Amino acid sequence: METNTTHAHKHKKHGFTGQLGFVMAAAGSAVGVGNLWRFPYLAAKDGGGLFILIYLILTFTFGFTLLTSDIAVGRRTGRNSIGAYGSMNPKWRFLGIITFLVPVLIMTYYAVIGGWITRYIVVYIMGQGNAASQDSFFTDFITSPVQSTFYAAAFMLFTAWIVYNGVEKGIEKYSRILMPVMLVMIIAIAIFSLTLSHTDDAGVTRTGLQGLIVYLKPDFTGLTLRRFLQILLDAMSQIFFSLSVSMGIMITYGSYIKKDVDINTSIHQIEFFDTGVALLAGMMIIPSIFVFEGMDGMKAGPSLMFISLPKVFASMPALGRVVGLAFFLMAAFAALTSCVSVLETITANCMEIFHTKRKSTTIVLTLVYTAASVIVALGYSLLYVEIKLPTGAVGQILDIMDYISNSFMMPFISMLSAILIGWVIGPAWVVEEVEYGGRTFGLKGLFSVMIKYVVPVIMFILFLESAGILNF
Ligand code: PHE
Repeated sequence: METNTTHAHKHKKHGFTGQLGFVMAAAGSAVGVGNLWRFPYLAAKDGGGLFILIYLILTFTFGFTLLTSDIAVGRRTGRNSIGAYGSMNPKWRFLGIITFLVPVLIMTYYAVIGGWITRYIVVYIMGQGNAASQDSFFTDFITSPVQSTFYAAAFMLFTAWIVYNGVEKGIEKYSRILMPVMLVMIIAIAIFSLTLSHTDDAGVTRTGLQGLIVYLKPDFTGLTLRRFLQILLDAMSQIFFSLSVSMGIMITYGSYIKKDVDINTSIHQIEFFDTGVALLAGMMIIPSIFVFEGMDGMKAGPSLMFISLPKVFASMPALGRVVGLAFFLMAAFAALTSCVSVLETITANCMEIFHTKRKSTTIVLTLVYTAASVIVALGYSLLYVEIKLPTGAVGQILDIMDYISNSFMMPFISMLSAILIGWVIGPAWVVEEVEYGGRTFGLKGLFSVMIKYVVPVIMFILFLESAGILNF
């Protein structure tokens, strides 16, 4: 297949200084609220260890394949999604445009979630942990037009500041500091939550170690084929979201890596980082909820992080305030480096399309997205709507944006990019890039089979399921 990109792509002026900077930035993008909040909640819902096992297998097959192709496409073409797919095959530029739309949509709400986290940091600094443990606290906050927009806009400005400073002096610099700090904090909180013990009003004592068993033990009760498929799909869509693949982010970050960086080992490091943090988040959240609220607490679902955890912190004698603050600070670091990757991808694509400079592009995008974040934040108050999604759930503006970008578009994009790489360009194009400079690509056989046969089929099924066409 003739393509008009060669290995000797024009080198960008800016880029990561080396492998460590790249891995930290990419892990910064991957590790986010998905790991801290969504993974533990899915694990609790989908049979504990069974979900974890399926998740691990899928990460090292599907996740690995999608991450490898995104990063290799970025480095080999040296461009962002629109330019990258367009240069691989001019007929496929449309795929770059659809891919670009995912961060464009995600950016409208990610800072709103970041704002929620920031609100809780302020709560614990001010020592208002007890107020935050009341059932209505979270709802009161998000339905308050002034507060919710203020925090969303503040988080947006932190994000914009980092992107404004560029790849090395902004993204890489902050990721190198925030990611290790975040890792140490999450390990400390996870160990701490295993030491917890609490006797409830009925005189039942539950310990953190029992909670760990609840988290890790595979639960096969009531397992039918249908339920197994449901768990599989939950795990699969979690992997996309968690690894930030199929949305052009890893293409953009890939375009900033130097030719002497070993892509293969970098990818394994990013996978380990992301999966490790997800596992630790479960180890931190599930035992602590179990200790203070028992198995009933597990049913909380998405409200686990903002409603159940503040209750846990309030039940801890003495240490609750410190642990609460540590938790939300850590979550804010994780969310910030992810939000940065979304804004960076939009910025980089715009700079490439409009031939504009970073600083002016960031300023314009900051204005646009501060306005968008305000609108999404107001979706719980002045602009409240109830829309029924094809999945059956009822959502507000934020859920609609999340549904369109993650559930609907991502499987579709993964399917098309697998067809482009597997069948139009050929997997060898990616393999060559990974092996560039004599590097080894141990799993190239797995990669080729996955990208040609497995990914397109499974993504098609996932797409039908999330579009509401196929129902398990
Ligand atoms: N990967 C991030 C997480 O796990 C989420 C994310 C999604 C980040 C989309 C950027 C873009 O939370």
